[in-house]
Amino acid sequence: MRKTVFRAVACVAITLSLAACGNGSGDASAPNTTSGATTGSTSSSDASKLSLAAQAGQKLFFDSNLSGNKNMACATCHVPAYAYGPPNSLSVQLGSDPTQSGARAVPSLRYKDATPPYNDVAANPDNVTSNAPGGGFMWDGRAATLADQVAMPLLNPVEMNSSKAAVVQAVQNASYVDLFKQAFGADVFSNPDAAFADVGKAIEAYEHEDTSFHPYTSKYDLYVHNKIGGTLTAAETRGLLIFNSGTIGNCSACHYAGANFDGNQGLMTDFTYQAIGLPRNDTSIPNNPSPIAANQDPTYYDMGLCGPLRTDHQPGTAGIATPDPYCGMFKVPTLRNVATRGAFFHNGVLHSLVQVVHFYNTRDTNPEYWYPATGGTGAPIANPSYALFPQYAPGATVQKFNDLPAAFQGNVDEELPMGTGDGGSNTLGSGTQPRAQGSTPIMTEHDMQDLICFLNILSDGYKPPATQPTSGTCVN
Ligand code: HEC
Ligand code: HEC
Repeated sequence: MRKTVFRAVACVAITLSLAACGNGSGDASAPNTTSGATTGSTSSSDASKLSLAAQAGQKLFFDSNLSGNKNMACATCHVPAYAYGPPNSLSVQLGSDPTQSGARAVPSLRYKDATPPYNDVAANPDNVTSNAPGGGFMWDGRAATLADQVAMPLLNPVEMNSSKAAVVQAVQNASYVDLFKQAFGADVFSNPDAAFADVGKAIEAYEHEDTSFHPYTSKYDLYVHNKIGGTLTAAETRGLLIFNSGTIGNCSACHYAGANFDGNQGLMTDFTYQAIGLPRNDTSIPNNPSPIAANQDPTYYDMGLCGPLRTDHQPGTAGIATPDPYCGMFKVPTLRNVATRGAFFHNGVLHSLVQVVHFYNTRDTNPEYWYPATGGTGAPIANPSYALFPQYAPGATVQKFNDLPAAFQGNVDEELPMGTGDGGSNTLGSGTQPRAQGSTPIMTEHDMQDLICFLNILSDGYKPPATQPTSGTCVN
């Protein structure tokens, strides 16, 4: 919740009928959930239904000749069978030049078409929370449109590592060049800059038009729209309540479950930016499976909205307060298909949903699980198996929020379930009061199991079983 305003979560939590919240348009705004539609692994729907631009975009999306070493397509990192997210649990992916690797986790490309443009004072889809940074593409919103976004991976030396000229040349040599000309004009290649921009427009059209990018075929969708097979189990229902509860999980305060701007239900994001103080993904974490190479430089900090990749909110910029309130803020991602992921958050530092929910629950109460610590006396005590740090010495000083310089650590959100949510607003975040180290976390182990059961039903491609199970995980 923001400063004086409460987020509209209670509506969802109390009624449990999502259609009764939001814009009240109910099923009239239901997305096109064609029955028996895609499985999670379908790469595309019927191409003949796509515009010519989108058909060209589909070819481009899967074309590895667009990359510097002709070995990497958009679909290499954004794999259809993984909800257009990464196919492995690496925190960040290798580039077309395999000696290079990215500095951020690959997001899913599903349900991005509802994203509004970036704005420092964006309206919140819950219609209650006060305006705040929101919208835009990439973890820091620096791409204004899906078409503009396309140039970024193509030209990034640690990703596809190509050039405008080489991309346009690759399209001219491609088997689908005639399709591209049909879509953008026979003389499209007479202006290479315009042709490069058309590559972006083609891929944007594909992402917008192809239903595999927004299938709405999860168990949750069946449930929300009262479709056959959309009956939640007892565990999933409890998980949904915890997700929406403003006093327990509070997930929907940011991963908004109500109607979004386009009327679709439950994209599980309000498109805002928050600093949640993640651990730095570096070699200080014992047995870290994939530390980020850029973090070997102790002076490098990926601070989201305030840079370094985004350049218009950097500390010292005219009109930006001191200390810069944007530092550490990253976009709230959709949680649809989150169970298909093997690396979580912008820096991919966590590798399972069990870790994620425990991080939210114990970031403040047990920071020794998540951040490096120095000093301390006495025999080390073992941390739980989900913790990033296997043990700590009693009395040690924990370097909380170690992926943000100290000057900006006040930006970190103390909303529930992480902090107490009390104390008004810290700059652009909410709540200033952390939960005391050693105090009791808000969710029980049972709550978190149920919450994960709920997150599991957000995956597309759900096929209702012939008979509902009466026992097993996530049932009772
Ligand atoms: C090497 C892996 C890789 C490749 C190849 C790649 N991407 Fe990405 N993609 C990423 C990463 C990492 C991000 C997040 C970048 C950031 O926030 O700075 C991202 C972000 C995006 C986003 C923004 C999603 C959001 O949540 O706002 C879109 C859209 C996207 N990519 C589309 C594409 C397209 C189209 C291509 C091909 C032209 C492509 N990507 C190629 C890794 C990749
Ligand atoms: C204060 C706002 C806020 C609240 C409350 C919140 N989240 Fe998040 N969530 C975020 C932001 C912001 C990110 C991205 C942060 C980053 O990567 O730096 C995120 C990321 C995630 C991710 C990683 C997704 C991905 O694609 O990598 C998961 C999973 C997640 N949240 C689950 C939850 C659950 C479950 C709850 C409730 C227990 C919750 N969140 C509560 C803001 C919030």
